[in-house]
Amino acid sequence: MTFSAEKATMIEFKDVHKYYGDYHALRGITATIKAGEFFSLLGPSGCGKTTLLRTIAGFEGISSGAVMIDGKNMAGVPANKRPTNMVFQSYAIFPHLTVEQNVGFGLRKDPRPQAEKDKAVAEALEMVNLKGFGKRAAHALSGGQRQRVALARALILKPKVLLLDEPLSALDKKMREQMQMELIKLQRQVGITFILVTHDQEEALVMSDRIAVMFDGEIAQLADPETLYRKPASRRVADFIGTMNFLPAQIKSEAGGKVEIEAHGFGQLTLDADQVSGANAEGASIGFRPETLTILFDGQTAADRESMGTVEEVVYYGDMTYYDVRLDGTDAPMRLSMRNIPGRPVLDIKERARVAWSPSAMVLFR
Ligand SMILES: Nc1ncnc2c1ncn2[C@@H]1O[C@H](COP(=O)(O)OP(=O)(O)OP(=O)(O)O)[C@@H](O)[C@H]1O
Ligand SMILES: [Mg+2]
Repeated sequence: MTFSAEKATMIEFKDVHKYYGDYHALRGITATIKAGEFFSLLGPSGCGKTTLLRTIAGFEGISSGAVMIDGKNMAGVPANKRPTNMVFQSYAIFPHLTVEQNVGFGLRKDPRPQAEKDKAVAEALEMVNLKGFGKRAAHALSGGQRQRVALARALILKPKVLLLDEPLSALDKKMREQMQMELIKLQRQVGITFILVTHDQEEALVMSDRIAVMFDGEIAQLADPETLYRKPASRRVADFIGTMNFLPAQIKSEAGGKVEIEAHGFGQLTLDADQVSGANAEGASIGFRPETLTILFDGQTAADRESMGTVEEVVYYGDMTYYDVRLDGTDAPMRLSMRNIPGRPVLDIKERARVAWSPSAMVLFR
């Protein structure tokens, strides 16, 4: 779904800190999540994703700051009084109940007549593509189907916010990709706010309107997928989101919206000021993604710059080939990706390669 700036705020974190004893797990989280947004918390193991999600659900108290949901401060509001529902990594469904008993579980105290509740269960099952599975015993389902039951059970309570803690991580690659597509469709259909925790950067890029990248209890960057990928705020974010090549650089001059640099192996380059990204503690460096370098074959000419190099590694992926190519005059190979199209050869190790590149595709960290 396309994210629009006019949307109302659904969640607001105001300088949230969380200590477990002496351990400072959340270190000043300030962020807003909009109503109807598909939002992801992405980061390595132990960075505080689950902890932050649980502060929304009310399973975890905070040490200072505030968590607001739909304009209300959640201090002192217990989990069962919050307009949220959570889907866990391990399918927390009851194996001894049927699919429809599982999905209807949350409605057991609902005063509506049974026929209406049955209808709601049937609708929820249809939503997650489990129509006709109602009478099946829950233990007789595949992993993907169990996770759909867990989703239906959460959605039937019509929460304003659905919290998903690595809900797909136990599934195999194929099933995970299918469920990713289904979750995107489902979120569009129901229109409620989804907050997904994942440590899988591809999953976050594919699914989210916006992503908060977390390291060590802090948000390192909060942006839409394209901005995160094209303009990471730091080398650490760039390294975590996909692959990026880095080369040391020296800044020679800055004036009139241009930055003159000397980059190892690339010589003197002129970059636009808006190619300058965030901080890098180890000094200035340029970064560029593998797909911004192209190997030129017979008769092709470079649109911009061209260098010679030697292939040091080739990894064939079917649709893509990844190469490590060491450009002449540089001391480390660079990762480069090429789409495999019919008639295009795949180079071997030690072959010479003509490589096209462009200063406009580079990011400068300083
Ligand atoms: N109940 C607890 N008591 C003490 N420390 C905790 C507790 N829960 C979490 N932590 C610590 O807080 C940090 C953040 O944990 P959290 O579960 O939020 O990480 P995460 O980003 O979800 O990681 P993962 O990807 O492995 O699930 C970790 O270092 C963890 O050990
Ligand atoms: Mg976690």
